[in-house]
Formats: sequence, C-alpha cells, structure tokens
Amino acid sequence: MQNRMMITGAGSGLGREIALRWAREGWQLALSDVNDVGVAETLKMVREAGGDGFTQRCDVRDFSQLTAFAQACEEKLGGIDVIVNNAGVASGGFFNELSLEDWDWQIAINLMGVVKGCKAFLPLLVESKGTIINIASMAALMQGPAMSNYNVAKAGVVALSESLLAELKMQEIDVHVVCPSFFQTNLLDSFRGPKPEMKAQVGKLLEGSPISAADIADYIYQEVAKGQFMILPHEQGRMAWAVKQKNPQLIYDEMAAMADKMRMPRTK
Ligand SMILES: NC(=O)c1ccc[n+]([C@@H]2O[C@H](COP(=O)([O-])OP(=O)(O)OC[C@H]3O[C@@H](n4cnc5c(N)ncnc54)[C@H](O)[C@@H]3O)[C@@H](O)[C@H]2O)c1
Repeated sequence: MQNRMMITGAGSGLGREIALRWAREGWQLALSDVNDVGVAETLKMVREAGGDGFTQRCDVRDFSQLTAFAQACEEKLGGIDVIVNNAGVASGGFFNELSLEDWDWQIAINLMGVVKGCKAFLPLLVESKGTIINIASMAALMQGPAMSNYNVAKAGVVALSESLLAELKMQEIDVHVVCPSFFQTNLLDSFRGPKPEMKAQVGKLLEGSPISAADIADYIYQEVAKGQFMILPHEQGRMAWAVKQKNPQLIYDEMAAMADKMRMPRTK
C-alpha cells in the first residue's frame, strides 16, 4: 500500500493544500520548507485532517539538504511513495530589465530545485515504484510577457517531467506535471524583479483566480488517480492550451498585444 508523500515548499499555499488533501486519506507526510513556522503549522493541520508525519527544514537549492531529507524519510517512514516538487518563487520584469542574478535565482529554485528533488529521491522511488508530481505552471506552456525567467524555469520543469516520464517507465515510476494558471497564495511574498510596480500587477492576477489552492490540490488528487500526466487545473488554461496547440500564432499575437499594453503609455 502506498501512503507516504514528501512535499517541498509545504509551509504555505499549494504545498500545504496538497498535504491536507492527502492527509484526509490518512497519508504520512514528510513536509519541508525554508519557512519553519509555516511548515510546523502545516503539520499541525495535517494531524487535524487525519494524517501524520514530520517536518524538516530544506532549501531546494542545496542538494545535500535534499539528500538528508530523503534519508530522514527512509529512517522515519521506511521510504517514500510520492514526491511533490512544489517549492517555488515568483518573479517578473521585461527581459531587458532582468539581471543575470534574477535569472540565476529563479532557475536555482524553480528549475534546479525540481531537478535536485527528483535526483535526491530517485533511489527511494525506485524501491517503492513511486510517483513524481512536479509543480510547473501555465507559464511553461503560454509564456506571458515580462516573466521570461519564470517561463523558462517552468518550461524546464515540463521538459524534465516529459523526459522522466519516458526514462522511468521501465522502473514503473509514474510522473505527473501540474500547470496551474494564477491562484491566490503567498507567492507574491517571494516576488523578485527590477520594477516593484510589476509586483502589484502579479498580485491582481493571483487575486483574479476563480479557483483556490484547495481546489487545485483536489483536482491534482483526482487527476493523479486517473493517471493523467499533464494536469491543467484551470478551465481557462485548458482552453488556451488547446488553442495554442492548434494555432500557436494566435497566442503569440495575443502575448505581443499584452506586452504592448503592459508597456503603456507608448510613443509609436
Ligand atoms: N500561485 C500561483 O498563481 C501559481 C501559479 C502557477 C504555479 N505556481 C507554483 O506553485 C508552487 C507553490 O507556490 P504557491 O503559489 O503555493 O506559493 P507560496 O509562496 O504560498 O508557497 C511556496 C512555498 O515555497 C517555499 N520556498 C520558497 N523558496 C524555497 C526554497 N529555496 N526551498 C524550499 N522552499 C522554498 C516558500 O517558503 C513557500 O512556503 C510554486 O512552484 C509556484 O511557482 C503558483
């Protein structure tokens, strides 16, 4: 029976809601974050929801912290069945304004954090014939303007997931990648970008979501059970992705118009 899940970035937002969704099924949760207070609160909520587990501080940029976390899962839970690479940060800014440091920071957390999570936990997943759930974003598929470093990191997560889907099939390890549109969490707290006013724009997008982090966690739960590889929780996202696959130019034109609008007022 599979009932042990590890989550990165479990101290807030989607990571917390995923923990609670699986806790309601009685799972054991290995919860990590760089936010000690948040992750302790998640464990308390997990226990109230019918699950149990432990917390361990883990910065996903540091491979040695991830391997130590995997070792703790082996010692405390006897292994792991599902890993959720969820930890992430927000960024924004046009390409000409983003610094190389902005790029390094974004790639180190949102892309290499997932690579390192998969690598550190692979031996345990081979043993359990487990499951990988990587949290990407619609930004991986739609590439909105003024977030190129985030788009690239998340597109990398989709490419990594597709690669692992093929490579790990022989070992009976399932892979899923989740691409939500914007939804309300504490993601804005981590925002980094050259122009502070961009943060307010991202905030408006988060607020505008018709579905909550809890709804998304529930949708992930259902789709994983169905064996769906690419999970798109927002209906609008599913529609936009269908349009792009049929007629990518339509989306490119829409993104260019959006970039123009964001740059207003313009003299042209
Ligand atoms: N909120 C959205 O609109 C949205 C949309 C698409 C995808 N996502 C993705 O969902 C995931 C969860 O984000 P959220 O919206 O719940 O945000 P959140 O800020 O509420 O939660 C993210 C958690 O990750 C943790 N974290 C940040 N850097 C870390 C690091 N280096 N090591 C370990 N933990 C770290 C934070 O402390 C936080 O607890 C992220 O990967 C994000 O990119 C979010």
